[in-house]
Amino acid sequence: MSVARHLEIACIPGDGIGPEIVAEAKKVLTQVCEKYGHTISYTDVLMGGCSIDAYGVPLTQETIDICKSKQAVLMGSIGGDAATSPWYRLEPSKRPEAGLLAIRKALGLYANLRPAYLFPELAASCPLASKEGGRNFDLIIVRELTGGLYFGERWTKEVDGVTTAVDTLKYNENEIRRIAKTAFEIAQKRRKKVTSVDKANVLDTSRLWRKVVHEVAKDYPDVELNDMLVDNCAMQLVKDPEQFDVIVTENMFGDILSDEASMITGSIGMLSSASLNETSFGLYEPSHGSAPDIAGLGIANPIATVLSAAMMLRYSFNMTKEADDIENAVKKTLHDGYRSVDLMPKDPMEAAGLTKVGCSGMGDAIAARI
Ligand code: IPM
Ligand code: MG
Repeated sequence: MSVARHLEIACIPGDGIGPEIVAEAKKVLTQVCEKYGHTISYTDVLMGGCSIDAYGVPLTQETIDICKSKQAVLMGSIGGDAATSPWYRLEPSKRPEAGLLAIRKALGLYANLRPAYLFPELAASCPLASKEGGRNFDLIIVRELTGGLYFGERWTKEVDGVTTAVDTLKYNENEIRRIAKTAFEIAQKRRKKVTSVDKANVLDTSRLWRKVVHEVAKDYPDVELNDMLVDNCAMQLVKDPEQFDVIVTENMFGDILSDEASMITGSIGMLSSASLNETSFGLYEPSHGSAPDIAGLGIANPIATVLSAAMMLRYSFNMTKEADDIENAVKKTLHDGYRSVDLMPKDPMEAAGLTKVGCSGMGDAIAARI
């Protein structure tokens, strides 16, 4: 019997579809907590566009302090349509995305884990031509989250009469070492293979990255390490994703490769993520964005957020059974034929027999299978 516990969670519903998908994750968490006798309390805080509307800034100190005082943060998504939303007429450092980068930094969340695996039920949605026997990949991207290009000095100004912009890509050995350790430790619990992705044929930061990752590898002799250039990795992900177990890479490469990896699972609506510091504290959010075009329509796919909640139970609360229950309920829901619109096959023949559900219908179906 597991011991009943009380979970204290800060919650950032955010913008766009964020509030809808977080509501479904809470529904599923409530169900699993009831099953095991745990109690859970949420403190909702603003971040992103809704914080701009309320306070004029995308992230307040109050939001940071509340998040720090809890055991974990569950987040939906932030941001709006850059072409139409007034948030994007503000200077870049005041826009919604700046809040997300700043909260990651303020909470020290340097390790971003983004697992991508293909549910057999969604094999038909995988855009890759199937191999004989079907596709079957299960990889995790470990993205460095608080360094590199997204946090370097940047400016735009006139230089000799020409408008010029600069972004700075900087890493030190300590930042690389700690994320490399995270990757090797995760690999030890999986298939013991790390692919370190860089651009060492061009960038100094990548040459340092490669050197430090190889030093760290000496402490993990049971894990196989190989290096891969980022352009090749982008290609290999669509050619042969089965070859990967753990991919470790710097911030921007991880941002790009994780969107690519999510799409080969059938939909970007499937990819969960955990952003961790060196303790058990973490922020859990889907890898996808706020999808302003479908916000409020009730058709968003909440699965990435539900799976992020499972990661929260696993990593921040060490609740393995509870996390397994959520993941199994998602599997069963897909197996039983429930599909959000993004997961619905275009071919009417393939769609026959499947049940199209909205955001809350998907949450209900998952919760019912806990
Ligand atoms: C992500 C997002 C963010 C990032 C944006 C919104 C700043 O794309 O979480 O992948 O680049 O990290
Ligand atoms: Mg991204």
